[in-house]
Amino acid sequence: MPDSTHETLIIGGGIAGLVLALEIAEQRPVTLLQPSRDALGASRWAQGGIAAVLSPDDDLEAHVADTLVAGDGLCDEAAVRFTVEQGPDAIAWLLSLGVPFTPDPDPEARYPYHLTREGGHGARRIIHADDATGRAVVETLRQHVEHHPHIRLRTDLTAIGLIGDTAGQCRGARCLDEQGRLVELPAADTVLATGGASGLFRHTTSPDPACGEGMLMAAELGAELMNLEFQQFHPTCLFDPDGPPFLISEAVRGEGGHLLDAEGHRFMPEVDPRAELAPRDVVARAIDAEMQRSGREHVWLDVRHLGEDAIRQHFPTIHAHCASRGIDIAHEPIPVVPAAHYSCGGVSTDLEGATTVPRLYAVGEVAGTGLHGANRMASNSLLECLAFARSCARRLRQAAPADSAPLTPWHPGTSLVPETECRTLLAEVRGIMSENVAIVRHDAGLATAERRLAELAERLAPRIAGATPSVALARLWHALRLARLTVASARSRRESRGLHFNPDCPPHGDPAPQPSRVHLSDLVSLND
Ligand code: SIN
Repeated sequence: MPDSTHETLIIGGGIAGLVLALEIAEQRPVTLLQPSRDALGASRWAQGGIAAVLSPDDDLEAHVADTLVAGDGLCDEAAVRFTVEQGPDAIAWLLSLGVPFTPDPDPEARYPYHLTREGGHGARRIIHADDATGRAVVETLRQHVEHHPHIRLRTDLTAIGLIGDTAGQCRGARCLDEQGRLVELPAADTVLATGGASGLFRHTTSPDPACGEGMLMAAELGAELMNLEFQQFHPTCLFDPDGPPFLISEAVRGEGGHLLDAEGHRFMPEVDPRAELAPRDVVARAIDAEMQRSGREHVWLDVRHLGEDAIRQHFPTIHAHCASRGIDIAHEPIPVVPAAHYSCGGVSTDLEGATTVPRLYAVGEVAGTGLHGANRMASNSLLECLAFARSCARRLRQAAPADSAPLTPWHPGTSLVPETECRTLLAEVRGIMSENVAIVRHDAGLATAERRLAELAERLAPRIAGATPSVALARLWHALRLARLTVASARSRRESRGLHFNPDCPPHGDPAPQPSRVHLSDLVSLND
């Protein structure tokens, strides 16, 4: 049994969770919860790489400035500066662990590893492992975690809620094992590394994205959530209605790929002087507009002019996947469509990952650190995972043991809500969000979403109180309430900014924009 006065519980085994576990395990006992579903989590699917100032021709101020521009006036500059400054050290640490980043074959290269370019970056600063960076980093970290004597890795449990105490602190998590039995994991400090909320939408860039479970679990303990309205849609997911979701990395445009309309013309240069390398919100909106204009279900991404050798060398994973789906990207353009990819908001934290609830921390996509503002710049997300997991570890290494305030009681019910019904209702939530709260949202659509989600919640709420806990039910109930908070955040922002584009509101209406902040208790007043 873990010693709960010292134990750190980390929920989520993507890059943020793995880094944190490795960074504190020498000082404190750690339990790392990595449900097997996480094997498909977002970190693993990140293709492009990690943005950091590594070349002697680049500089920290330029990375800060590019991030602020992409964030469209809403970044927290202190968070941006902090993250960017951690970059070179964090990459050196990954290299020391053996992450196989791609070397630069050019003997004249000013930095030994190849640096690619992506949207919004004014310099080559993305270090990568071919076009499967997330997988390479996760696999390396995971090997170290598996061999670490002080990390208890639990792949048999899924967290469904957090445990609070009467002093308002977080004291661990309630989980279900593979047989559906309740298991309580007490801890002195609890860290959410559970990923974002792209799963609130129908079409996503990874096969089984999180639905914001961690955000809502934190909100249940009273934590503040911020900037939920800024959901990023990656411009280029493979259009493949019969296949699994598959990302076509932004690095493809970074290395010279062109977006083409239905008639085969490049359309981005007319939209923005940065063309295909404009920030993601601009490119995704332009593709959406082009699809509306043409009535087609996708646009094209063309790399044929790069040549087959360069394509195979830079993008072996993308080349192979497309070939397996019948598309030879060296000889034909790739059909692409925007899809939900990344949540720029999340559980509000400080620069050490501390949330507004004592002894509860959040790192990675689940967190709202202020780094991304209204739109995340490409490849800043893995950098954020590294920077904040390591600063959170520094804080936790010095944390005092927990005191022993009584835990707040919890009484699960016994009536069954069938898994198939949970899945159907979650699909309904996703449909509502995709139809009304996607790349372009109007006041009328947001009002419709608010009403339909409130009706669903009203139908479900009386059953929740008496229900037997299940992973499917917890997921649905977390997703439904997070969707409502997302709509509330979108309705309250009376301007178009970054990823929040509402034609009924003026662009950049607010001269001194503030992050949006919500609490779960706000939902009660929405019902009034
Ligand atoms: C990509 O390779 O385009 C995804 C990486 C990211 O979202 O930063």
